[in-house]
Amino acid sequence: MGQIIIDDALNGLSQLKSESVDVCVTSPPYYNLRNYDADGQIGLESTPQEYINRLVAVFREVKRVLKPDGTLWIVIADSYAGSGKGRYKNGITIEKMLSKKQQGNKGTWMGTLEKTTTNGYKPKDLIGIPWLLAFALRDDGWFLRSDIIWDKSGNVFPESVKDRCTKAHEYIFMLSKNRKYYYDAEAIKEPVAKSSLKRAKYGWHGKGDHGQGNYAGLGSVEKMGSRFVNANGRNKRDVWHINTHAYKNEHFASYPPELIRPCILAGSKKGGIVLDPFIGSGTTAMVALQEGRDYIGIDIQPKYKDLIEERLATVLFTQTPPQNIV
Ligand SMILES: C[S@@+](CC[C@H](N)C(=O)[O-])C[C@H]1O[C@@H](n2cnc3c(N)ncnc32)[C@H](O)[C@@H]1O
Repeated sequence: MGQIIIDDALNGLSQLKSESVDVCVTSPPYYNLRNYDADGQIGLESTPQEYINRLVAVFREVKRVLKPDGTLWIVIADSYAGSGKGRYKNGITIEKMLSKKQQGNKGTWMGTLEKTTTNGYKPKDLIGIPWLLAFALRDDGWFLRSDIIWDKSGNVFPESVKDRCTKAHEYIFMLSKNRKYYYDAEAIKEPVAKSSLKRAKYGWHGKGDHGQGNYAGLGSVEKMGSRFVNANGRNKRDVWHINTHAYKNEHFASYPPELIRPCILAGSKKGGIVLDPFIGSGTTAMVALQEGRDYIGIDIQPKYKDLIEERLATVLFTQTPPQNIV
């Protein structure tokens, strides 16, 4: 059914067989955003480049364990270069960010923040972490196939900024190990808007006027319909409107199950193996189980193990209730 490994991602991955996993769906620790209070954690490197290098090394191991037709889906957000003060507003104090070890050594920590701002970035610069990672992975041999926008504007947490727009999106990058790969477009197709069906049938002005305007020269209504609109559903678009979710647990960076369900459905068959090298609270494993897949999850923080087991037990209980309960 599944396996949870509590270890550093690179160590955990080294225990897995080559070409054994169907799809990897994950969200690495974001750059300089959270402290997971674990020695060896990723995310608190002193420069974006160090952070990217560590992630590239982890995903190189992911590439080794993926089957030749496997894909990798990475959920990732951007970070701003800070002055060492403003970055941790919004209720997260510097003390909260620091592990006990780091709190005893604030000088080093503040030095780290300063370096972030001077290493090619001015305070307040958007670093562009998602694209730095995407390009680095492409350079490392991955095929960069899709940049999906996770639109969180439905219920995004307000920011106190007044000199730029409130950030309401993250990226999901889809990468493949090889040029040809497994992708089940049917499994994730979207419903067609009623207006599109109507337009295909009757044209822009409701008079079957496809011979004019944008549709000039494309033929009959029927041909238009079959060519542009399939009433059974359309190919999934690359902007996904998913609200952030209110799952309350000890892990404060879990992603919504509905965000990654399409990645698992498109990237693997029933019975396949879904990998997450930064499993956190176990969302990826939970959705994998719900969809009849097996899972392998890795996380460096031992305290998440109970949380994951608790979540997975709920799924198993819901899906196969013990026979003796009436
Ligand atoms: C953004 S969170 C993942 C959240 C997860 N998607 C969920 O829904 O709960 C990133 C996770 O990476 C873990 N982590 C940080 N450094 C790591 C490392 N070197 N190896 C493995 N896990 C690490 C953190 O403990 C954290 O749980």
